[in-house]
Amino acid sequence: MNTEIALASDSENFVKRHQTRAEFLKTAALGVTSVSIISCLMACAKNEDANAVDGKNFSGSLTLTTDQKNTLDSQKFLNLDGLMVTLDGATYRAFGRRCPHESGEIVAQSGTSMQCQRHTEQFYNATGVGNGARTSASLVSYTVTNNAGVLTITG
Ligand code: FES
Repeated sequence: MNTEIALASDSENFVKRHQTRAEFLKTAALGVTSVSIISCLMACAKNEDANAVDGKNFSGSLTLTTDQKNTLDSQKFLNLDGLMVTLDGATYRAFGRRCPHESGEIVAQSGTSMQCQRHTEQFYNATGVGNGARTSASLVSYTVTNNAGVLTITG
């Protein structure tokens, strides 16, 4: 009789232990899932570039309008869709606006300086070479043809 009670008690303890382990595993799985979701959300929140605009590069052929040419000649740079045109001394150059580091948008600020808008410590010189803050790679460059003051960019 005592043996039967002892067996029943052991059986109940076994079930309780099993339920406890199952509950523990279920709780642990939920915990791991929660930590994973929170980590993902924190990584997204910490991403300083979440709202950054990706730059893009030009493709094809474009002839500047008279107004665009006049603006370029007076301010020494022109930011267009996928394209920057600069004037360095008497030399016209054209570059794509996609940063070779992580595709941030590049903005020309003068005839000899262009800045990445995603990582603003990154600049490119007059010939499109990176300053090494994030990359020393060069911007994509295009051919500028000057036909009696009419500028055509091809690439
Ligand atoms: S994306 Fe331009 S420097 Fe990082």
